[in-house]
Amino acid sequence: MKVFISGRIAKSGLTLLEENNIEVTQWKESRQITASELIEACKNVDGLVSVGPNKINADFLNACKHLKVIALHSVGYDNVDVAEANKLNIPIGNTPGVLSGATADTAFLLMLAVSRKAFYLHKKIIKGQWQNYEPTPELGIELNGKTLGIFGLGNIGLEMAKKCIGAYKMKVIYNNRNQNPEAEKEIGAKYVSFEELLAESDVISVHTALTKETKNKFDATAFEKMKPQSIFINTARGGIHNEEDLIHALEQKLIWGAGLDVTNPEPMSADNPLLNMESVAVLPHIGSATEETRSAMANLVAKNIIAALNGDALPSRVTD
Ligand code: DGY
Repeated sequence: MKVFISGRIAKSGLTLLEENNIEVTQWKESRQITASELIEACKNVDGLVSVGPNKINADFLNACKHLKVIALHSVGYDNVDVAEANKLNIPIGNTPGVLSGATADTAFLLMLAVSRKAFYLHKKIIKGQWQNYEPTPELGIELNGKTLGIFGLGNIGLEMAKKCIGAYKMKVIYNNRNQNPEAEKEIGAKYVSFEELLAESDVISVHTALTKETKNKFDATAFEKMKPQSIFINTARGGIHNEEDLIHALEQKLIWGAGLDVTNPEPMSADNPLLNMESVAVLPHIGSATEETRSAMANLVAKNIIAALNGDALPSRVTD
């Protein structure tokens, strides 16, 4: 059996594939593979490991109907036409669970960095602008006892909530498509409407998938309803907030700060005004980027491939 991997994944996953007699070919260039190159590379293989934002759309799927499995190296599957894949009987695997802790760490890191203007102040040192000690300019805000609003209380949102409770005794409210009674019981999170989430949160952290319903959910109207001292964090997908509206909200001080691990588009351009704002921290989509997590993701990707090629159920299959 043969598999094409459209990027570099951790060695443990490659080893697992090789141990199961799966022949691997890999995209090793630093640029993202193009749509036509991906189709070409998949011509003579049984499975695809999709790394990065490849569009697994109807065109791709119909050009590669012979694939027995597509394993995503991500939990998010907003770039996949799952309905079309289901129609063609191509199972899609993803990597939930194993990356929750690391991604929540990134959200926590951004929240704390924004609250103390850390990225902005760091840049001032680099520019030679560390001057006298002064007690009042460029002050941060504290997080102790504040209200955390989670938009999308799944695995990652729950990990973020636990970190915020542990570190700062934050009160947790959340809004979801569906209520999460286990999480309510485990951490005492309170379900609220989206409007209440906006009005009551001191920090809003986004942990939901990008769908038709969540696209541009955080727009001018939403930012206007947030507290002027609030912080907006997004480690899910850049399309969930409207970037122009976010810039405007920060410039007009409708909200206090923002931390982003995801932008729209990605990569963010180096002259984006967000990068020069005091209470903003931006990272280049590194949510799950730790040695441990990338290895666990590669293992799950390999297990999804191996299962499908053996005719078994995938350990983690996207079902929508
Ligand atoms: C994920 O796992 O969805 C990450 O955001 C990488 O795309």
